[in-house]
Amino acid sequence: MNHFLDIHQTAPTDLRQIIDSAAAMKAARNGRPRGAPDEEQPLKDQMVALIFEKPSTRTRVSFDVGVRQMGGQTMVLSGADMQLGHGETIADTARVLSRYVDMIMIRTFEEQTLLEMAEYASVPVINGLTNRTHPCQIMADIQTFEEHRGPIKGRKVVWSGDGNNVFASFAHAAKQFDFELVFTGPQTLDPEQALDGLYSIERDPQKAVEGADLVVTDTWVSMHDPQSARERRHNQLRGYQVNDALMALAKPDALFMHCLPAHRDDEATSSVMDGPHSVIFDEAENRLHAQKAVMRWCLGA
Ligand code: CP
Ligand code: NVA
Repeated sequence: MNHFLDIHQTAPTDLRQIIDSAAAMKAARNGRPRGAPDEEQPLKDQMVALIFEKPSTRTRVSFDVGVRQMGGQTMVLSGADMQLGHGETIADTARVLSRYVDMIMIRTFEEQTLLEMAEYASVPVINGLTNRTHPCQIMADIQTFEEHRGPIKGRKVVWSGDGNNVFASFAHAAKQFDFELVFTGPQTLDPEQALDGLYSIERDPQKAVEGADLVVTDTWVSMHDPQSARERRHNQLRGYQVNDALMALAKPDALFMHCLPAHRDDEATSSVMDGPHSVIFDEAENRLHAQKAVMRWCLGA
């Protein structure tokens, strides 16, 4: 049994196996109707709990569809509707859920909640996003890059914007998959210092994107950020918008990614999101395939 908590805590050989398995499972579906089961049914008779303490579209739907395609069943739970949201401890919740289900995916606020869930659950726990990290997203992003451009090893990835949870998982991935990662953003929104990842900082976005194989951004205000910080963040980040002029400084065949949901014409212009460099909807699709592979790995199935 394996938990999938963070990319830097997962061995590079396991990460590679997950990406390869995701690509193989995607190819094997080859035009099957969305609701049709996979030929292989590795999650047959398995029950998976999907807990959301924050909103979600992609994570919720891709996990739910993925489990069903692999022959399992899901229950989607809102944190607020559980006793978890009314004072029951995470440890007790983990112990109880482990008596009913075979695997738990949780999207939560504090990293500590995820870690406690994993400590006390006797079934695999998957990180569906915390304030600090979003590893499932980056597994889909690696799959997407390699699908379009081949091995990510040695390539240059530039993150423009907020040094947030999605960036942190990119920094973990840079270490494990051996690519170069450059952060460009204001010093006030630098990634947290304790981050056990690999990246360099270039304050000037134009210099940063020179020679980039991939340019990535994300919302300027994450779900855990106070709305009162919105205006200040926008003012600090405006110069880091990914627009046509910035993309033109990257490699001619550079890709553009955004985990979505996006605030169009804030962190990235619609012309970039819908333009020739963009692979944002392939990324969204690959959440499904990458997470199916993560779940198989967790269960050893
Ligand atoms: N990218 C992502 O995790 O999207 P959701 O918040 O819609 O799940
Ligand atoms: N950084 C964003 C990612 C959403 C998928 C957030 O945490 O809100």
